[in-house]
Amino acid sequence: MSISREINKRRTMAIISHPDAGKTTLTEKFLLFGGAIQVAGAVKSNKIKKTATSDFMEIEKQRGISVATSVMSFDYNGVKINLLDTPGHKDFAEDTYRTLTAVDSVILVVDCVKGVEPQTERLMEVCRMRKTPVIIFINKLDREGRDPFELLDELEAKLDIRVRPLSWPVSRGQSFKGVYNLFNKSFNLFRPNKQILDDDLLVINDLDDEALLSNLGIDNVRQLKDDVHLIEGVYDEFDRQTYLSGDVAPVFFGSAINNFGVKELLDTCIEVSPVPRGRQTDIRPIEPTEEQFSGFVFKIHANLDPRHRDRIAFLRICSGKFERNKFFHHVRLDKNFRFSSPATFMAQEKNIIDEAYPGDVVGLYDTGNFKIGDTLTEGEKIMFKGIPSFSPEIFKELINTDPMKTKQLEKGVQQLTDEGVAQLFTHQLGNRKIIGTVGELQFDVIQYRLLNEYGASCRFRPLGFIKACWITAEDSQKIEDFIRYKPENTAYDKEGNLVYFAESEWLLRKAIENNPGISFHFTSEFLLNN
Ligand code: G4P
Repeated sequence: MSISREINKRRTMAIISHPDAGKTTLTEKFLLFGGAIQVAGAVKSNKIKKTATSDFMEIEKQRGISVATSVMSFDYNGVKINLLDTPGHKDFAEDTYRTLTAVDSVILVVDCVKGVEPQTERLMEVCRMRKTPVIIFINKLDREGRDPFELLDELEAKLDIRVRPLSWPVSRGQSFKGVYNLFNKSFNLFRPNKQILDDDLLVINDLDDEALLSNLGIDNVRQLKDDVHLIEGVYDEFDRQTYLSGDVAPVFFGSAINNFGVKELLDTCIEVSPVPRGRQTDIRPIEPTEEQFSGFVFKIHANLDPRHRDRIAFLRICSGKFERNKFFHHVRLDKNFRFSSPATFMAQEKNIIDEAYPGDVVGLYDTGNFKIGDTLTEGEKIMFKGIPSFSPEIFKELINTDPMKTKQLEKGVQQLTDEGVAQLFTHQLGNRKIIGTVGELQFDVIQYRLLNEYGASCRFRPLGFIKACWITAEDSQKIEDFIRYKPENTAYDKEGNLVYFAESEWLLRKAIENNPGISFHFTSEFLLNN
């Protein structure tokens, strides 16, 4: 089969949400529809406990399962869907952001009772930044939720994106009747049932149809007519191109737990969502249809077996064909590697694959050669753009508490930071090591894993910084002056790039104002432009 045909039958996406909106439930229902799992509950166990307190033991337990569910592939109506999992816990936001670099579109789940929540906003920011097409699923219509028009207004205002409802609910909560599909003008009757997968579609000619009247009652039909009239007056016709360019988000309503509106969502998704798209590199754009293989690593997962300490690097294929046992070029290391057991994962199941195509994600066994953002090609020296490190917000000095295990600690810290668990900086003064993260939880994870996987013990000393950013200048004298003036506040990242630490937003602003010749960068993206 030609590469184009393989590409056209693939969709690579992520389901994202604020914790508890229903991401796991929806994922599970997708897998049920795709026949990939037979019973509900298989994905559920993947959930990281959503406690406010640090609960790293729980996370440790979950790590094994989450390898298996990092990518879930299934076939639905002749389309291969690659569903990438994103952690729900906010301390793992960076992991989620990076996973979003590997997908071509996103389904955003919103709870109809709670509306837009903080994590919804943050995730959407990343999608906007990357112009990722988004479909919104408003979930839990079986609950007494908010007025749908009010929800749409909130989505537009808080998420800064235009929306276009493609389905519309009739009533909600106890009296929820179902949704009217504005796209194909059918009515999907709500029958609360967690077991039945098929939609209960009412055949109607128009909104005056007798069948509609007898099922919904006169008041509901009248309301629906008014709503539809209003929607058609207020919102532009759905235009696929505008969705694909990330400017408008189609909206669906349903109840994931009741399998309601899920099939409708999935059907529309495979109809409108983009096939695997090209990616930008530091040299040129890469089209998926190119003969030559290329791909990048967006996630690294440490193996669970501490005796081996091998890891799995997740590679998104961008062009050409990936083949088992074929030599590929690791651009950063300028070395060739081949992979004898590349794997795909499917709800607790791992399969060795012989080939994979653009849009697919393969898990590569790694003994420490990969870092996030690494590129594999057939020889071309390119690096994919858009796999940024974000500037961390919590900083602690790493203190070795067992000098006999210094080597192990060094190695452990290097490897864990390669995985993207946290960022490592070396202070200007005295070679001190600073760990920067976006969440508190990571420190517990690091400490625990250093001890369990590397036998090294450490503690952390909090530092009073709130932000780190990379700094560059055309005139190197300016940088030297800056370092001399702020030795306490400057350090180097793992690649030797200079970083500035600020104690407060105010001091950061001042530093920017007082140093016009210096550029301050908040994601590592700038490195590729140099
Ligand atoms: P998350 O991955 O986004 O964190 O959410 P998850 O799917 O785990 O759903 C969070 C809670 O919301 C779960 O309840 C789930 O059953 C419930 N839920 C999901 N979809 C719907 C829906 O359409 N209607 C209603 N009423 N509830 C829904 P839980 O009590 O936390 O877990 P469980 O005991 O049900 O497993």
